[in-house]
Amino acid sequence: MPSLDQALRAALDSRQPLLADLHQQGTDCYRLFHGSQEGAGGLTVDRYGPQLLVQSFHTSLERDALLALHQLVNERLGVDSLLVYNDRSQGNSRIDRRDPVYQADEQALADLTGHEWGLTYRVRGRHAGQDPLLFLDLRNARGWVKAHSAGKRVLNLFAYTCGVGLCAAAGGAREVVNLDFAEGNLAVGRENGALNPELPPMQFIQSDYFPAIRQWAGLPIAQRRGHKLPSYPRLEQRQFDLVLLDPPAWAKSAFGTVDLLRDYQSLLKPAILATAEDGVLICCNNLAKVALEDWREQVLRCASKLGRPVRDCQVLPPAADFPSLDGNPPLKTLILQF
Ligand SMILES: C[S@@+](CC[C@H](N)C(=O)[O-])C[C@H]1O[C@@H](n2cnc3c(N)ncnc32)[C@H](O)[C@@H]1O
Repeated sequence: MPSLDQALRAALDSRQPLLADLHQQGTDCYRLFHGSQEGAGGLTVDRYGPQLLVQSFHTSLERDALLALHQLVNERLGVDSLLVYNDRSQGNSRIDRRDPVYQADEQALADLTGHEWGLTYRVRGRHAGQDPLLFLDLRNARGWVKAHSAGKRVLNLFAYTCGVGLCAAAGGAREVVNLDFAEGNLAVGRENGALNPELPPMQFIQSDYFPAIRQWAGLPIAQRRGHKLPSYPRLEQRQFDLVLLDPPAWAKSAFGTVDLLRDYQSLLKPAILATAEDGVLICCNNLAKVALEDWREQVLRCASKLGRPVRDCQVLPPAADFPSLDGNPPLKTLILQF
């Protein structure tokens, strides 16, 4: 087993060509160390613009190791990054010891900005949620959307902080609709819109996925007997030219359960129906234990059962900052052309 220092050096070496490309395309947000695949399971090191975000998921990182890591990254990148260390190894708690290195200084915790595909994104080292405000493994999908949105009506489902919507707007979409049930996440999406004032405005719909997508798809909204449904925004049946479906692994609400292992179908079916006849649906599954081949088969079967056979199905893997030893990255993305 190589030491953390050796593993980190090897990871930084292997990323040189990728980082040169990313810097050239206006990206300064990327993963520098993907521990599970690069020799230190449960440790990730990400650059978000001026900030260096270190996260541990299994065991806490000792002070000296953290400081050495910070120094090495600064030397190799030629930057003076602002360190934030979020220890997520103990339930949901974050490390907050006396030592300032664990606390992060004010500057590092301020509202910062990072860049991807030439766009500006809000970056916060700590906020109400656990995850960083931009999921880096979805970068290639955002790039694809930016390159294929011209003139399209784009729907971004489970939008989170609306990165995909932003890329669609930058790519010349005719209309961009972001949907998420968490107002706090959409609020960051609005901030992201404001950070790119040259882009046309996006729409934000705060709603549970199930009632929204089923209304667009023209399907009834199921109600469990004896359970009154909470209110939800009323939407007209309609279709979109480009739809992005990137749900969380599991989430339960009054309207249904998002369950990528047992029931991808109930998410996918209405999303397909809300995609125009010759449109594109990009769908994702971030559950590591779901194999790409099985899931792809399920997706294609669901489409043909609906009478909407897929003309072309492309797999879009994450970029090289998310290496995968067995060729099965947790985040799987399919581009379905109808
Ligand atoms: C893993 S994130 C999706 C990542 C996102 N697609 C992106 O581009 O970064 C999950 C998002 O789904 C939202 N969410 C979870 N369950 C939901 C539901 N039933 N209806 C609407 N949004 C939901 C959460 O609020 C969160 O923003």
